[in-house]
Order: sequence, then structure tokens, then C-alpha cells
Amino acid sequence: MEDSPVAEAPTPEIDVSRPHTARMYDYYLGGKNHFAADRELADKVLASMPSARTAARENRAFMGRAVRFLAGEAGIRQFLDIGTGLPTAGNVHEVAQAVVPSARVVYADNDPLVLAHARALLTSSPEGRTAYVQADLRDPGSILASPVVRELIDFDEPVALLLVAILHFIPDEARPGMIVATLLDALPAGSYLVASHGTTEHDPVGPGAGQVAYRSSGVTGSARNADVFAGLAFSGLDLVPPGVVLVSEWRPEGPGPRPSPAEVSVYGGVARKP
Ligand SMILES: C[S@@+](CC[C@H](N)C(=O)[O-])C[C@H]1O[C@@H](n2cnc3c(N)ncnc32)[C@H](O)[C@@H]1O
Repeated sequence: MEDSPVAEAPTPEIDVSRPHTARMYDYYLGGKNHFAADRELADKVLASMPSARTAARENRAFMGRAVRFLAGEAGIRQFLDIGTGLPTAGNVHEVAQAVVPSARVVYADNDPLVLAHARALLTSSPEGRTAYVQADLRDPGSILASPVVRELIDFDEPVALLLVAILHFIPDEARPGMIVATLLDALPAGSYLVASHGTTEHDPVGPGAGQVAYRSSGVTGSARNADVFAGLAFSGLDLVPPGVVLVSEWRPEGPGPRPSPAEVSVYGGVARKP
């Protein structure tokens, strides 16, 4: 089993006094990597938006279907997953390498706890490679320049960029559209973007109150509607059918039933760089 260096920087201190989105997401998914501050805010969100767990599960399942599509039908062999989250079932390299054992995956997240658990993300198949970078999406240049990224990703070959359930943490002032454009500019034609994003379009009350709760604890970000999300993520790209839809509606497997739009409240899409 060949693992790459875990990270470029030593582990920054883990602050358990403030809630972190990665740990809250882990709590929604039924994981074990969360602290009191995370559970307190997550319970507040769940009180106003009881479907947050459903939304998290649907989002995660969408990511799995998108990666299977990319590794299979689209022939992608390298993945850059920014906003990885804590290791859980169906990590990107597990999904991709189940289709193509030689797939290479670089993970990036800004939560020190994800770094602390990164070894679980580095269990590559012998034929493939995985690596982890502690990095912030708001500084895309540093991700692209990272020696870890440069070592694993061949920028002359198509890459799948994953921004799954992260763009809603980037407020308008941080210019999320520019961040996405900077990353995509570095990738060759034939590359893909997978993105998903929370919305209040189908239920202004629950997710709206959830957003207020996040902001009250200093977690920045913004729910966005389908058009705004599509504009900032997929401008200039060719959307793969069915386009930007609720994550539960993106090439669902099995007959259903599927949760209601209000329960899901996360849009997703996959697009190819022409
Ligand atoms: C809701 S989780 C999504 C995890 C995974 N992508 C998925 O969809 O299953 C969001 C992740 O983005 C990370 N994150 C949030 N803001 C970030 C930023 N500015 N830079 C890097 N990572 C960030 C959080 O630490 C967390 O791990």
C-alpha cells in the first residue's frame, strides 16, 4: 500500500470550543467525530430543520454517484476533492478506485480535525495514490501550487474537481465565482466539476433558520437558489444531464421513494470543461 505524505504543515491545534462544519456534518451523518460545541449547534439546526440528516445523506449519495459516473463513463483518473469532510463511508478514493484501481485522489480541507484523521483518507489501492493537503478554498492559488497537488495531479490530463457541499460556506464577499474560475482555469479541457449547494428555495423556513443558527456561531456562508448556484459554479461549462437539480434527482439509482424537495434542499450538478 503506497501512501503519500499526509500533509505539508504540522497539525494545527484543534479548537473544540467552537462548532466546525465538518464535525457537524459528521454528526448529521451519524459519525462519531464531533464535540459538544458541534452537537449543540447541530441540534439547534436540527430543531428548525429536522431534515438536515436527510439532506446530508442525499448529498453524500449524490457525490458517490457523481464519482462513479466520472471514473466510469467519463473516464476520469484523477480527482481533487476540496472540502473533503471527515473520513466516513464512501470516501472519494474508495468510490473511484472501486471502478478504476489506479485512480489518484488529492483531498483538501481547512479543518484541522480532518487533517488529524487524514490517514483514513490515505488508504489507497496499491495501483492508485491518495494525498491530503490542509488548505483553504478561499486561497485557490495555494491549492494549485501545493507540491502535494503537483505531485499527484497531472495538469495535462483531465481532472475532476469536487466542490461538494462547500460553496455555501463561501459568502459573496469572498467571490466564490472567482474561486471556482481560478481552479477551473488551471485544468485542461475535458476536466469536470462536481458541485453541490444548500438552498432555501423549497423551504425558506427550515434551512433559513438553519442558516441563521450557523451565522450566529460565526460560520459564514449563504444558501443560494438554483440559478445563482449554476451561475457561480458552472458558467462556461457543459452540464451533464440532468443539469442542476436537487441532489436526490441527479441520476438516482433504484426506484425510490425519494425525499421531498424541501427535505433535500441541496442542489447539485456535474459539468465538463469544453
Ligand atoms: C458539509 S462538509 C462536506 C463534506 C464532503 N464534501 C461531502 O459532501 O460529503 C463541508 C466541508 O468543507 C470544509 N470547508 C468549509 N469551508 C472551507 C474552506 N474555506 N476551505 C476548505 N475547506 C472548507 C469543512 O471543513 C467540511 O469538511
